[in-house]
Amino acid sequence: MSTTANLRFLITAGPTREWIDPIRFISNRSSGKMGYALAEAARKLSRHVTLVTGPTALAKPAGVAVVNVTTAAEMAKAVLARFERCDAVIMAAAVCDFRPARIAKLKIKKDKFPGTLTLKPTIDILARLGKRKRHQVLVGFAAETDHLEKNARGKLRRKNLNLIVANGPAAFDSDRNQVTLIQRDGRSERLALMSKRSAAKEIMGRVVRLLP
Ligand code: CTP
Repeated sequence: MSTTANLRFLITAGPTREWIDPIRFISNRSSGKMGYALAEAARKLSRHVTLVTGPTALAKPAGVAVVNVTTAAEMAKAVLARFERCDAVIMAAAVCDFRPARIAKLKIKKDKFPGTLTLKPTIDILARLGKRKRHQVLVGFAAETDHLEKNARGKLRRKNLNLIVANGPAAFDSDRNQVTLIQRDGRSERLALMSKRSAAKEIMGRVVRLLP
């Protein structure tokens, strides 16, 4: 810790859950492992690390300020409130893109379920940060089953990011990850398959180099 010791990192991790009724939710396969590994790698660089996390089974990383959230709306609120003071934000969370249009107050009984669930989009947190960005380095993830680089490049541009980390569906719940890092200037690096801890270290190295 020297030149990076006073930097403020904000990292998001895990899935969000979007309520259907008080018992049920929709979510995704994210384990949170990549985001937690990033928080640990960031903690080695600075003491100012905040981890905004959806529900996971992982232990709280030592020395990191943890903010627990459940829904995309809660994650948006926690991240947007802290954005101004950050030097770098890494959105590793698998934020649900859709939520039920209406949350039932009481459990929906099986014989009363109409057979379809109407969904509406959640707030795109990263796109919102991209619009507000000033000095901050903004990093996104792209989880793709196909056209990995093309889709990731599209997200990098659309969301006004400095760096995007693209990975395939095999990353979900695995302890290892094979990532492709794509920078704003078009440079792309395909890293080898490695532990999420090593991938996190590589990613943080690139983030630090992007800081002013
Ligand atoms: N993200 C976000 N808010 C959302 C959805 C996604 O901040 N409501 C962030 C994720 O944390 C990730 C990046 O945006 O860093 C890309 O997420 P992804 O779901 O892959 O992309 P989408 O923009 O949702 O595009 P698509 O569903 O078309 O793949």
